[in-house]
Amino acid sequence: MNFTYIKLVLIVSALGFFASCNHNFDRIPVHQKPRLEFAPNMYPSEAYEPVTVIQDSVNFPEAYNQMPGNNGNGNLRLPVANTIKRGFTPYHISKDSLEYASRTLQNPLVLNDQVLAEGEVLYGRFCQHCHGETGAGDGPVSQKLKGVANLAGGQLLTISQGHIFHVITRGKGRMLQHASQIEANDRWKIAYFVKEKLQKKQ
Ligand code: HEC
Repeated sequence: MNFTYIKLVLIVSALGFFASCNHNFDRIPVHQKPRLEFAPNMYPSEAYEPVTVIQDSVNFPEAYNQMPGNNGNGNLRLPVANTIKRGFTPYHISKDSLEYASRTLQNPLVLNDQVLAEGEVLYGRFCQHCHGETGAGDGPVSQKLKGVANLAGGQLLTISQGHIFHVITRGKGRMLQHASQIEANDRWKIAYFVKEKLQKKQ
C-alpha cells in the first residue's frame, strides 16, 4: 500500500516535470505556445515600470506601450531642459574667477564642533593624501605630483573660505576639481577645517 503510494507520487511528479518543459528554450520568456503560463505578470509587469518597456505587443498585449506618446514609448520621462536635481545648488562661477569667488562667497554653515569634526573626516578622505595630515603639502601623493600647495603656512594663510571652496569645486593649476566627489556643504565643512584647524595650529 505504502509502496504503491510512493510510486504514484513519483509518476505524478515525473509527469509534472516533463509537462513543465517548453518546446522552445531559446525564446524564453517569449513563449510561442505556452501550455500553462504560471503568473505571466512575473515576466512583464502590468504596473508602470520606469525603465523596463515591453515592446512585444504579440505576446504581452496587456503590458505593451504603457505610456504611448512618451519618448520611445517609455514610462520614464526625460526631465525638461535645465532641471536641477533636488537639494543641488548650481555653481555658476567659472574656473578662472577665483578672485571673485574668494571675495564674495561666504560659508553658509554655522561653525561648531560637529562641523569641524566632519570637515576633518572629509579632509582625511579627499585632501590628505596630497596635502598631508597637517596641510603642509607633504602627503604621499606629493612625492609623485610636484607642487602640492602648503595649506598650513606661507601665503595661503590669508586665503578666504570662498577661495578654498572655489579651488575644491573648480580645481586650480595642477589640482583637479572635486565637485563631483564632494557635495557643496561638505566642501564648506572642509573649508572650515582648513581655516580653523590646519591654519590655526601655526
Ligand atoms: C591629487 C592631489 C590633490 C588633492 C587630492 C587635493 N589637492 Fe589641493 N592642490 C594640489 C596641488 C598640486 C595644488 C597646487 C595647484 C597649483 O597651483 O598648481 C593644490 C592647491 C590647493 C590650494 C591652493 C590654491 C591656491 O590658491 O594656490 C588649496 C586651497 C587646496 N589645494 C585645497 C585642497 C583641498 C581642500 C582638498 C581636498 C578637498 C585638496 N586640495 C585636494 C593637489 C591636490
